Amino acid sequence: MTTFSETYDLNYYCEVTMADAANIKNIGLRGVTVADTKISDVDGKNGILIYRGYRIEELALRSTFEETAYLLLYDALPTNLQLEDFKQRLADSRSVPAFIFDSFRQLPVNTRPMDLLQASIPLLAVDDPDIESETREANIARAIRLIAQIPALAAGWEQIRKGLDPLPPDNTLSHAGNFLWQLTGVQPDAGTARAFDTALVLHADHSFNASTFACREVVSTRAHMYAGVAAGVGALSGSLHGGANAQVIKMLLELLNEKDIAGWVKKQLDSGHRIMGMGHAVYKTMDPRAHFLKDMCFRLGKKLGQEHWCLLSAAIEESAIAEFERRGKFTIKPNVDFYSAPVYHIMGIPHDLMTPVFAISRIAGWTAHIIEEKFGEAQEKPALYRPSSDYVGHYCGRTGCVYAPIEERPSVKEI
Ligand SMILES: CC(C)(COP(=O)(O)OP(=O)(O)OC[C@H]1O[C@@H](n2cnc3c(N)ncnc32)[C@H](O)[C@@H]1OP(=O)(O)O)[C@@H](O)C(=O)NCCC(=O)NCCS
Repeated sequence: MTTFSETYDLNYYCEVTMADAANIKNIGLRGVTVADTKISDVDGKNGILIYRGYRIEELALRSTFEETAYLLLYDALPTNLQLEDFKQRLADSRSVPAFIFDSFRQLPVNTRPMDLLQASIPLLAVDDPDIESETREANIARAIRLIAQIPALAAGWEQIRKGLDPLPPDNTLSHAGNFLWQLTGVQPDAGTARAFDTALVLHADHSFNASTFACREVVSTRAHMYAGVAAGVGALSGSLHGGANAQVIKMLLELLNEKDIAGWVKKQLDSGHRIMGMGHAVYKTMDPRAHFLKDMCFRLGKKLGQEHWCLLSAAIEESAIAEFERRGKFTIKPNVDFYSAPVYHIMGIPHDLMTPVFAISRIAGWTAHIIEEKFGEAQEKPALYRPSSDYVGHYCGRTGCVYAPIEERPSVKEI
């Protein structure tokens, strides 16, 4: 019988797997560049976000979600004809396969929408007649389908859990307006539809954030786009990422009648809790998207008689920044989720659908990144992601620990 040391070159094995004391570990990969991208860039020091070269402020003011999604996917703003064609392709892709909504009807009404969304994405793969094709065009078609159907899935679930049937799309409306219609059964007014459209533009991409990296990591194995997007939805659901907006609205509800906001903030930080919607892994100043959403909150809030949500958010922001600064932390400012939560609440979006709404927008960025990753569009060669780790577990020397048969191991009592 050959021994372990005969089978493996132990010197090599030790060299590549044992902790190297000189290695500097970077938990969370902060500041580690893992790839090139042409899709978006975040300048955290100066609070600047660009998509394909365009400043987010410019796109938020002048573009639409459809046009921004086109820009992310095709690396150029569309001509009129190209935009009309893109919108038509979105409209043609909106209907969700009946078996998916039938499966929704079997689920408990308290199913968490992000779990439902994550589970639905591979079901869309089942219904993709071209699933074996990995051409660029097949992936673009898949991206358009996902951008069209994720809102339909979220809105369909809202209807089904109320005991109703999903509403058919109204293709005379914008992508944003149609979602609000399919969600609520009420045609949104032009101002609300435009504000929601802007919120979608603001959330559409954000370089190598956790969910986008998850999408890219999965498809780097040559898995299909749906597998990558399902991973992205899972990553987005966490409260340190897209799930933060649902936590922010919980905080606002808790503080609705609170007279001492500063005291609450202090208590929260003293007990080791986070102020949700504040702080960012990259921005060390206010997130440029938060400026827009704050302004949008006050505009919509005033118009719809719900300004108190924005005043409360602003009071928390002020107290939190002051308390962070007292503790020597000068870089923790509101992020995109801090003001998107009150904005979505004012628009009537159910609280547990706020994170799915993030996905409705971010799907544009995820699919653009997946295509860039699959086709090596920003660097020469697509590569399978495979980081290393330091092994800090049991170690019995080069030959390994002695394997004891189960009957010879000490019983729990002896241990
Ligand atoms: C997003 C987040 C995970 C980034 O964390 P990070 O990369 O560790 O951020 P920083 O390195 O700037 O944090 C510096 C310090 O401030 C603390 N901090 C950061 N954000 C904080 C918050 N919202 N509340 C309380 N403390 C916070 C960190 O814990 C860290 O403390 P330490 O130095 O004592 O360990 C963090 O800011 C957070 O948890 N925010 C709340 C959740 C949220 O809104 N997520 C959505 C992000 S878009």
